[in-house]
Amino acid sequence: MSQDTPEFLLERHPNPVTPAERERLLQDPGFGRIFTDHMATVRYSADRGWHDARIGARADLSLNPSTLVLHYAQEIFEGLKAYRLPDGSATLFRPEANARRFRNSAARLAMAELPEDLFVASVEQLVRLERDWIPSADGASLYLRPFMIATEVALGTKPSTDYLYAVIASPVGAYFKGGGSAVTIWVSDNYTRAAPGGTGAAKCGGNYAASLQAQAEGAREGCDQVVFLDAVERRWVEELGGMNVFFVFADGSLQTPPLTGTILPGITRDSLITLARDLGMTVREEPYSIDQWQADAQSGKLAEAFACGTAAVVTPIGQVKGRKHGFTIGSGGAGEVTLRLKAALQDIQRGRSDDKHGWLHKVA
Ligand code: PLP
Ligand code: COI
Repeated sequence: MSQDTPEFLLERHPNPVTPAERERLLQDPGFGRIFTDHMATVRYSADRGWHDARIGARADLSLNPSTLVLHYAQEIFEGLKAYRLPDGSATLFRPEANARRFRNSAARLAMAELPEDLFVASVEQLVRLERDWIPSADGASLYLRPFMIATEVALGTKPSTDYLYAVIASPVGAYFKGGGSAVTIWVSDNYTRAAPGGTGAAKCGGNYAASLQAQAEGAREGCDQVVFLDAVERRWVEELGGMNVFFVFADGSLQTPPLTGTILPGITRDSLITLARDLGMTVREEPYSIDQWQADAQSGKLAEAFACGTAAVVTPIGQVKGRKHGFTIGSGGAGEVTLRLKAALQDIQRGRSDDKHGWLHKVA
């Protein structure tokens, strides 16, 4: 396949959702419940390389029971969003960054590395076709889920020789039920998500499987998300199950845990560091302990905290609970700096302010 202009063969869905039904579905999409008509796929085999790039009807996958992914979990994914701009056009936010992270995840999982231009072309061409599925309500968007699985039929533990890459699309509203209101998070002091030398910095399904027991424990305690501590000292705050975390101090400075290999390098995290610095704020990428977090929240040194990610956007953290911890941050609601950064990010994503870093990738 040519690597210069990756073109996907298009086979339209014979019975797509009607426009009236689509409009009804888009009224209240929730998160990850509704899917568009089409999907993009590309195949890889050791002898042919990347081939058979196509966009066709979204359909079930049929897998032999001894397909490698079902046994040894060679699976990676991405998450990015397409937005509708005020002029009706559609844009992706930093898809090149997702393409790079996808390649890094593949390398860590010993999978074939999808060329970045092929990744970008797959989401671009799927969004162009499905543009009517992009909700226009503020806070809503079309969530893209590129993923890749090992498809060789074998039972030996070894890197697969064959892969299926696919992209599905889902119109979404807010990730948390309360919309943009503050969430309560659970400190997991017994389960960890990632260890040094492990797969924490890769976006692989196994990391999420490892987080679900902790997430369920938090849910039983009335929490919305779980925050993980480092696996060595069980002391340093790393990230949430599906989001990075930022701390905002009373002196106006910001801090976020450094990327030491056990944390997912979030694209929202990276964008917010840039935007905060643009606004003249000091941002430190330094470790922060859970005990210090509690002490600073109680003394008032810490004013705000928030979670961030593609799905969560910027979500204020109001309360933290755990077996050994329990504290409220600021007033327990959304802080001023949190809201300012959220607005700065969303104004760029929605085309309401100057895209001075060139983050928007117009598609249609
Ligand atoms: N951390 C984890 C574990 C995640 O799943 C995500 C979501 O993708 C993030 C952080 C935030 O990454 P991004 O901002 O690129 O969506
Ligand atoms: C995303 O934000 O895109 C993620 O993959 C996180 C997940 C919790 C939905």
